[in-house]
Amino acid sequence: GLRKKEVHVLCLGLDNSGKTTIINKLKPSNAQSQDIVPTIGFSIEKFKSSSLSFTVFDMSGQGRYRNLWEHYYKEGQAIIFVIDSSDRLRMVVAKEELDTLLNHPDIKHRRIPILFFANKMDLRDAVTSVKVSQLLCLENIKDKPWHICASDAIKGEGLQEGVDWLQDQIQ
Ligand code: GTP
Ligand code: MG
Repeated sequence: GLRKKEVHVLCLGLDNSGKTTIINKLKPSNAQSQDIVPTIGFSIEKFKSSSLSFTVFDMSGQGRYRNLWEHYYKEGQAIIFVIDSSDRLRMVVAKEELDTLLNHPDIKHRRIPILFFANKMDLRDAVTSVKVSQLLCLENIKDKPWHICASDAIKGEGLQEGVDWLQDQIQ
């Protein structure tokens, strides 16, 4: 029969931004876990869209594990970068990690699509996705397709729009 095309995705972003919650919500409801704990190292997860079968490297965002990210850059065909829109204090740290990613030799010269989730849009302190995009200077990314979606990973809002965009980039 017809098999969906397999795609390797890296899910990156600071600890507590909501990476694991997002990936969990993209799975069929009977495969979702009920309690999400901080990721240790990384975890390999799978979910499907209408035409693709995604294998996700859900990386820990904790400082002590961020040095693991780069070992998976070569095999990544797309990046999901998650930001906690309510964490203004650490927005600059998120920007530093993004800039380090964009300047890495295994990423720098590739036209790899990057999907940003401005997550936790439900929280009172959350800034808009436009503001997140300004704070991270996303308009400076000129050599890679990118897209930002506001999301609420707990309700699952905004996630499908992001995955639809990613799927279009990969076809
Ligand atoms: P690490 O694995 O440590 O890198 O963190 P992570 O990015 O995987 O974050 P995780 O998915 O574990 O979520 C961290 C916390 O944020 C959990 O308590 C989630 O329930 C909560 N959370 C995730 N997404 C949202 C959201 O959209 N809104 C709100 N209010 N809380 C969220
Ligand atoms: Mg996690």
